[in-house]
Amino acid sequence: MAVYKLVLIRHGESNWNQENRFCGWFDADLSETGEKEAKRGGQALKDASFEFDICYTSVLKRATRTLWLVLDAIDQMWVPVHRTWRLNERHYGGLTGLNKAETAAKHGEAQVKIWRRSFDTPPPTMGPDHDYYSIISKDTIARALPYWNEEIAPQIKQGKRVLIAAHGNSLRGIVKHLEGMSDEAIMELNLPTGIPILYELDKNLKPVKPMQFLGDEETVRKAMEAVAAQGKAKK
Ligand code: 3PG
Repeated sequence: MAVYKLVLIRHGESNWNQENRFCGWFDADLSETGEKEAKRGGQALKDASFEFDICYTSVLKRATRTLWLVLDAIDQMWVPVHRTWRLNERHYGGLTGLNKAETAAKHGEAQVKIWRRSFDTPPPTMGPDHDYYSIISKDTIARALPYWNEEIAPQIKQGKRVLIAAHGNSLRGIVKHLEGMSDEAIMELNLPTGIPILYELDKNLKPVKPMQFLGDEETVRKAMEAVAAQGKAKK
């Protein structure tokens, strides 16, 4: 029986998503499309009459702005927000700034998929000679999970209605944990940008049914396809 509801939302499209560049901890802002996505996600939550007691986000502006737009859309801007680097995107290391399709053409789609989606293989490290080394100084699940276990899960168990606005890979880490997904299964999961994801959880915080996307079917399908196509080499 569902006891709790949890809503996750991946930030809307960023400027670097639009350019198909590895972003990670680079602080790219939302693109115009991303702002629209976040507002549309907020509208979907409004249409379904969601209310929240507490929100969590990363320290990156694409997730923060998404949360602002969602809270504005549902007219709940007063809800307390907790920010943590533990919900930041996977650190893309030496790949930061590179084009995903060009990287796939150079290193192969299989390798790029491992760098983007694997549970235990980090991207190549970022050395001091990297263009973005001075702007942004892995293991996304290793840092997101303690925060989930120590901060977020206890709030949900106290009956707080929680919204988490974060990133593709930090949210995939939480999803892997909630669903008990294998290292192989998580490789195949792509979360769409700007679409609220509802989990109904039992008293032990186990999902009682699969994740549900909030919004119209067409929007959800297109977004999933777009994310899956990002690491493919251009033919
Ligand atoms: C990035 O950091 O490049 C994106 O936000 C997520 O990228 P990914 O889908 O390649 O993991």
